[in-house]
Amino acid sequence: MSEPSGNDKPGFDKEGLKNVLFVAIAVCLVCSVVVSSAAVMLAPLREKNQELDQKQNILRAAGLLPVDAKVDAQGHSVDEIFSEFEVRAVDLDTGRFTDAVDVSAYDPLKAAKIPAESMAIPDDEDIAVLGRRENVSLVYIKRTDGRIDKLVIPVRGYGLWGTLLGYLAFDGDLETIAGLGFYFHKETPGLGGEVDNPNWKALWPGVKAFDANGEPAVHLVKTRSPEGSEASSHEVDALSGATLTTRGVQNLVKFWTGDLGFGPFLDNLRTTG
Ligand SMILES: Cc1cc2nc3c(=O)[nH]c(=O)nc-3n(C[C@H](O)[C@H](O)[C@H](O)COP(=O)(O)O)c2cc1C
Repeated sequence: MSEPSGNDKPGFDKEGLKNVLFVAIAVCLVCSVVVSSAAVMLAPLREKNQELDQKQNILRAAGLLPVDAKVDAQGHSVDEIFSEFEVRAVDLDTGRFTDAVDVSAYDPLKAAKIPAESMAIPDDEDIAVLGRRENVSLVYIKRTDGRIDKLVIPVRGYGLWGTLLGYLAFDGDLETIAGLGFYFHKETPGLGGEVDNPNWKALWPGVKAFDANGEPAVHLVKTRSPEGSEASSHEVDALSGATLTTRGVQNLVKFWTGDLGFGPFLDNLRTTG
């Protein structure tokens, strides 16, 4: 027992087991209340930041926001640029717009895990290694004077270490790629992680996503076809030393531009505008 200091109340045993436990539990309770209150109070801010982050990813894929910038060249904020987009839900089976979900609250990734809101992808068609695909997804459309300027679709697929999540953007012809960007992946920095390299991403705008028969046609190649050839219009350089990530990216683009992805929707939109 230590010597009681002048401040100790007479008869209060501060090292007694009961008192030590009482103080420890009281400290734990206060801390847990502080941490949980902070988590609850910060939840709306966190959600807002996540929403802003997704808007940035969509705008970057569309080439409307420079890498690492928070405003465009004219000083417009992310919210200002994004406000020019309409967000619509699309039934991937029919390829038509649908009002079946509330777009402000709908999460296609969550839906893909719910059997009633998704389909099992047949093994021989599951080139992006997804397992299931949501019945309804979201698209982001920017129009000028009623004509489509940009269309952005969410895409995902397996690389080497995990599923890459991103956005693929098209120009108004719905055939020419405006950009591709991933906001989540587990690929190795310097190898598959080069999907984030601005120099590689700069190779995507202008690539033609479909061949003359309307079939998905993007190829990631080690050696480019002669410049100006039909084949070269569909080609993007492979990632050096990362054949498996490269194959994953090619497959996910093929899947989401194909029949089980947004293929039917793109066909319809080209006709209806
Ligand atoms: C530690 C480590 C990390 C790797 N990360 C990747 C990766 O992220 N993406 C990828 O395609 N290959 C990665 N590889 C290489 C693959 O194992 C494989 O060798 C490569 O995809 C073959 O590509 P290449 O034919 O272009 O050399 C990694 C290898 C090692 C040892």
